[in-house]
Amino acid sequence: MRFALLLSAALLSQGALAAMPEVEVFKSPYCGCCSKWTEHLRASGFAVKETLTENVPAARKRLGMPDRFGSCHTAKVGRYVIEGHVPAADIKTLLRKNPKAIGLAAPGMPQASPGMDMPNAKPFDVLLIDANGRESVFSTFTPKNGV
Ligand code: CU
Ligand code: CU
Repeated sequence: MRFALLLSAALLSQGALAAMPEVEVFKSPYCGCCSKWTEHLRASGFAVKETLTENVPAARKRLGMPDRFGSCHTAKVGRYVIEGHVPAADIKTLLRKNPKAIGLAAPGMPQASPGMDMPNAKPFDVLLIDANGRESVFSTFTPKNGV
């Protein structure tokens, strides 16, 4: 009985690990907000591998995220691409729901986003980019100290 409990605990933690694949971030060595975003991911429980590149658009293209959703950094997690300052909670939801899609994007640099964290900023939409490159609103992020 005790053994069975330990075994199921081990299986559960394995399941949790499998649900949280490492995030590989492609970022410029000169970008401060990118580093703040990776800190946000780590604080939310993700393992993060940072790959520095002077050419983020090339990395974005290689990963398959359309340029029009571009931001300052791009990332790969499991089979998905995460473009820009997407909140960690949305990445967790994406992994749990496991939709057929390219990934998530927070185009540009939303002021309210994790890693930007500007005070008095407006809510912004996180977009789901489907397998055909079409976007829909995945979630709306409302900052705690926003307007
Ligand atoms: Cu940024
Ligand atoms: Cu960035």
